[in-house]
Amino acid sequence: MKVLNRLIVAAMPLVPRPIVRRIAHRYVAGETLAQALETVRLLNAQGCRATLDVLGEDVSAIGETDRTVVEYLRALDGIAASGLDSNVSVKLTALGLKLDANHCRREFARIVEGARRLGTFVRIDMEDSSVTSETIRIYREARESYEKVGLVLQAYLRRTAEDAREAAAQGANVRVCKGIYVEPPEIAFPGAEEIRASFASTVDVLLGAGCYVGIATHDPAVVRAALATIARLRLPPEAYEFQMLLGVAGDLRRQLVSAGHRLRVYVPYGEAWEAYSLRRLKENPAMAGHVLKGLLGGK
Ligand code: FDA
Repeated sequence: MKVLNRLIVAAMPLVPRPIVRRIAHRYVAGETLAQALETVRLLNAQGCRATLDVLGEDVSAIGETDRTVVEYLRALDGIAASGLDSNVSVKLTALGLKLDANHCRREFARIVEGARRLGTFVRIDMEDSSVTSETIRIYREARESYEKVGLVLQAYLRRTAEDAREAAAQGANVRVCKGIYVEPPEIAFPGAEEIRASFASTVDVLLGAGCYVGIATHDPAVVRAALATIARLRLPPEAYEFQMLLGVAGDLRRQLVSAGHRLRVYVPYGEAWEAYSLRRLKENPAMAGHVLKGLLGGK
C-alpha cells in the first residue's frame, strides 16, 4: 500500500488540473473569501463553528507576506460583517517566519490588531519542528497583548509533554492534533499507539488544568479517549471543542454535534489551494488513499 501511495503522490503533478481541483474541492472551500464565507454559513447551519485559513505557507520573499495579512484582515471583516461563527487560523511561515522572525512578528501583530478590533480569536497553526520554539515564543508575546490568541501542540512530538505543562500553567487555549509533518524519530514518536497515548495525556493535562482545548482529530479512538477525560472531569460543553478538517469524517462530526459537543471545522481557502493540496500529499503519503478515493468518486 505504501508503494502505491508513493506512486500516486509522485504522479500528482501529472494529474490534470481540473481533476486535482475536483479532489481538492472537498477539502478546500474555494479560491475566494466569498466562497469561504458561504462554506462557513453552511457549516454554521449544521451546528458547526469554523476557523478560516488563508492558504499559503513558506513564502520565498518577505514582500509576499503583505498579501496574506491583507487577506486575513478582509477575512476578519467578512466574518464580522456576516455575523458568522468563525475565527481564523494563521501559519507563521506564510508571514515570513523562516526568513525573518521579526518581520513575521510585525505581520502577525497586524492580524492580531485586526482581530482585537472585532473581538475575534486567532489560532496560530503549528508547522514543522524547525519552527516549534519560535512559534511558541511568538504566541506567548502576542498573548501578552491580546488574550484571544491560541496555540497548537502536536502529539507526535516528544517535547509536547513539557510544552503542554507550560501551556497548562499559563492557562493557554490549545488545539491538540497528532501532527502532519514528517519528523525524525529522535524528536517524534513513530508509532500510531504512542501518538494516541501522547494525544490523550496532552488533552488530560490541559483540560485538567482548566485550559480550553480544541481536540483536533478524526480518529475515533482519540475522540473516545478525550470523551472519557471530559466525563471524568465532569466538564461542561463550554470547556472544550472538537475540531475537524473540511470534508473529513462527516459521520463522526455529526455524531459529536448531535451529542451536544462543540465542533469547529477548519476551512482553508485561497489561490494557493493547489500547492497546498500537493504539499500535504508529499508530506503525508498516506493521504494518497484519500486522493484515490476522490478520483474514484468515493466518499
Ligand atoms: P488519522 O490520521 O489516524 O486519521 C483518522 C481517520 O480520519 C483516517 O483513517 C481517515 O479516514 C480520516 N482522515 C484523516 N485526515 C484526513 C484527510 N486529510 N483527508 C481525508 N480523510 C482523513 N497538523 C499540524 O501539524 N499542525 C496544525 O496546526 C494542524 N492543525 C489541524 C487542525 C485541525 C482542525 C485538524 C483536524 C487537524 C490539524 N492538523 C494539524 C493535522 C493533524 O495533525 C493530523 O495530521 C490529521 O488531523 C490526521 O490525524 P487524525 O488525528 O485525524 O488521525
